[in-house]
Amino acid sequence: MSSYQYRSRNVEETAFLAQQLAGLFGPGTVITLDGDLGAGKTTFSQAVGRALGVKETVNSPTFTIIKEYRGETLPFYHMDVYRLSAEEADELGLDEYFYGSGVTLVEWGSLIEELLPESRLEIRIEHAGEQERIFRLQPHGEPYRKWCGKLKENGL
Ligand SMILES: Nc1ncnc2c1ncn2[C@@H]1O[C@H](COP(=O)(O)OP(=O)(O)OP(=O)(O)O)[C@@H](O)[C@H]1O
Ligand SMILES: [Mg+2]
Repeated sequence: MSSYQYRSRNVEETAFLAQQLAGLFGPGTVITLDGDLGAGKTTFSQAVGRALGVKETVNSPTFTIIKEYRGETLPFYHMDVYRLSAEEADELGLDEYFYGSGVTLVEWGSLIEELLPESRLEIRIEHAGEQERIFRLQPHGEPYRKWCGKLKENGL
């Protein structure tokens, strides 16, 4: 049992989860985000950007696919692969991001599962009310299993 569930009652609690996770990030961290329209994928990504000390506004990279930001400690690569075609994926060279020196967050990551690194943290966000969301974290690989253990230890 290594998966982990977090109930957020508002945007602030979603940002709190992002902050807690950001404390565990390192070079090559990969997180996927899935969930319906309006679930909070971009809201969560913005909170990650703030937690990493990104000065610019993080917004949805739907049409650009990838946006790169400079964080205080780590580069932050924000992807939205909803409209990504196979040829584009090839051109972009996704592995350079995944195995690079920064943190990659992939909105709609489940759509490109076969292109993702084996080791990653999968997050699914579900609506549970107007402002309530359930975050289901599924670690793939040992470092991310440890992360989920740490979140539990921290009483989240
Ligand atoms: N607990 C919560 N966590 C996150 N967002 C919340 C929460 N409660 C309300 N919201 C609101 O829900 C909306 C989430 O929108 P957001 O753009 O982050 O979703 P998304 O998953 O990226 O959707 P899309 O697939 O359309 O891009 C925002 O308007 C946000 O303010
Ligand atoms: Mg979005």
